[in-house]
Amino acid sequence: MARKKIALIGGGQIGGVLAQLIAQKKLGDVVLYDIVEDLPQGKTLDIVEASRVDMFDVNLKGTNDYQDIKDSDLVIITAGLPRKPGMSRDDLLATNAKIMQTVAENVKKYAPNSTVIVISNPLDAMVTLFKKITGFPANRVMGQAGVLDSSRFSTFIAWELGVSVKDVNALVLGGHGDTMVPIVRYANVNGIPVMELLERKYNDKAKAKEVMEAMVNRTKMAGGEVVKLLKTGSAFYSPASSAIAMAEAILFDEKRILPVCALLNGEFGISGYYVGVPAVLGADGVESIVEFTLDAEEKAALDNSVTAVKGLVEDMTRLGF
Ligand code: APR
Repeated sequence: MARKKIALIGGGQIGGVLAQLIAQKKLGDVVLYDIVEDLPQGKTLDIVEASRVDMFDVNLKGTNDYQDIKDSDLVIITAGLPRKPGMSRDDLLATNAKIMQTVAENVKKYAPNSTVIVISNPLDAMVTLFKKITGFPANRVMGQAGVLDSSRFSTFIAWELGVSVKDVNALVLGGHGDTMVPIVRYANVNGIPVMELLERKYNDKAKAKEVMEAMVNRTKMAGGEVVKLLKTGSAFYSPASSAIAMAEAILFDEKRILPVCALLNGEFGISGYYVGVPAVLGADGVESIVEFTLDAEEKAALDNSVTAVKGLVEDMTRLGF
């Protein structure tokens, strides 16, 4: 059986880590595309020269020619400019929409049957634009945001409680912006509610609430926190790892329930917008969306997040995309 072919559009920071992870995990052959001459060729050469050490024999090709992505099974898109300090994801809108337009046209032309994961920011707008231009079915076009946002939330909870992050389950819904919605009520450590553990730790309900609020806010601002520290560019290790978790669920038909930026058709009372929700990821991409009952506060927060996504999409439309 032929190996899966995975195209990475954008060979910058995230693209490079994606290529290395795919090789090390032997998920498939990699084509790394970038508009910058020699960059993807240099990165793939560097990665493949460790193949003896890392013990992989998948093929990696760096290219500036879209023809090389022909018939890819999976496409992961990071093309675009990253945020600079002080810049919001939305500031990136016009520049990255133009880039996404070309990317989408070429993916449609050369890999019409691929399943696509978009990472480029502003995520909710970029994935919307990609879907609009390609006309690919909704199950094959999704965005990565929630896996990373949830992992960040889980990390902060693990640090606070002094437990292994492997036992923390915490979900973040909504758009990939400051309005994202960390779901506190269901955050748990191996089934035990995080709020109860915090209340026991501090023996004080108000203090527990305050500590949780701080973690929720840090989660919402986590991307910006990394941008501020790096000074040039934005987070790249954790977005790459998160997209790989999604890719594995699809390539191995795992049916994992992961928070995915997916096109909604009435779920959670939302229609026609890409929003972060729990979804079953398997061989058919987004196989279904998993609905659950939100309380009034959570629903209001999700609606607020959807309003932000709508605003972003409207801005993009006004800019002519
Ligand atoms: N086609 C293909 N690649 C392009 C194009 C284009 N038209 N325009 C720019 N690129 C490439 C750049 O040359 C660069 O190598 O996209 C790559 C982006 O890489 P980085 O600048 O290193 O950004 P990265 O950290 O990888 O983030 C990529 O993901 O999380 C988001 O906000 C982030 O939008 C950004 C994207």
